Amino acid sequence: MRLDKFLCDSGYGTRSQVKQLIKAGRVLVNKSPCKQADLKIDNLKDVITVDGNACSYSEFVYYMFHKPAGCVCAVKDNVNKTVMEYLNKEDLRRDLFPVGRLDKDTEGLLLLTNNGALSHRLLSPKKHVAKTYYVKIKEEISAAALDLLETGVDIGDEKKTLPAAVRIAGPKELFLTISEGRYHQIKRMLFAVGNEVVYLKRISMGSLCLDENLKPGEYRALTGEEIKKLC
Ligand code: URA
Repeated sequence: MRLDKFLCDSGYGTRSQVKQLIKAGRVLVNKSPCKQADLKIDNLKDVITVDGNACSYSEFVYYMFHKPAGCVCAVKDNVNKTVMEYLNKEDLRRDLFPVGRLDKDTEGLLLLTNNGALSHRLLSPKKHVAKTYYVKIKEEISAAALDLLETGVDIGDEKKTLPAAVRIAGPKELFLTISEGRYHQIKRMLFAVGNEVVYLKRISMGSLCLDENLKPGEYRALTGEEIKKLC
């Protein structure tokens, strides 16, 4: 592959930015300065450094982000802070995007990646990927409401929701697992059974569980094991 593409894919900026890096002599290929952007390199054999730091090539990147309340799941937004603004500059690749959306006031697990196929699989309505939320509600849940959540609720869409798995976590706290991703689904489900969500946090999506060591606003790369299970 071309040296400039390798550097782009490794997160060193846009094609023109990496060309500048190369032109400035900041890039070494096998310890020799290289000013040729179209040099063909072997990403498995050649050692590429930028400012003395070795570059590791990966086509896809995966970050687990603990979304705080108050930011939006978008790559760009003219009004609100986006989830992408929490990333360090060196991790912010052009092609990175959040997988699905959490509401502005929802916290918790959000996957950021540039793997479009994986994102598609995780979000596909046909795949029924399970998502678990910790939910604080306004009123204690009634047996009738619980039954509705567990069998399917009319939230005003063409079809009722699919059965959810509910675990009571406290007098006004639940863990709710759904396998769809409809707009404001959890809030609408609780509203439809005469209750109200006062706090919402996603704690898992498919095989991926929010790392308890991540504070809101923090992120980390997925481990190899997590990537393997997810893909
Ligand atoms: N359901 C909601 O109502 N909001 C979210 O952010 C996610 C699921």
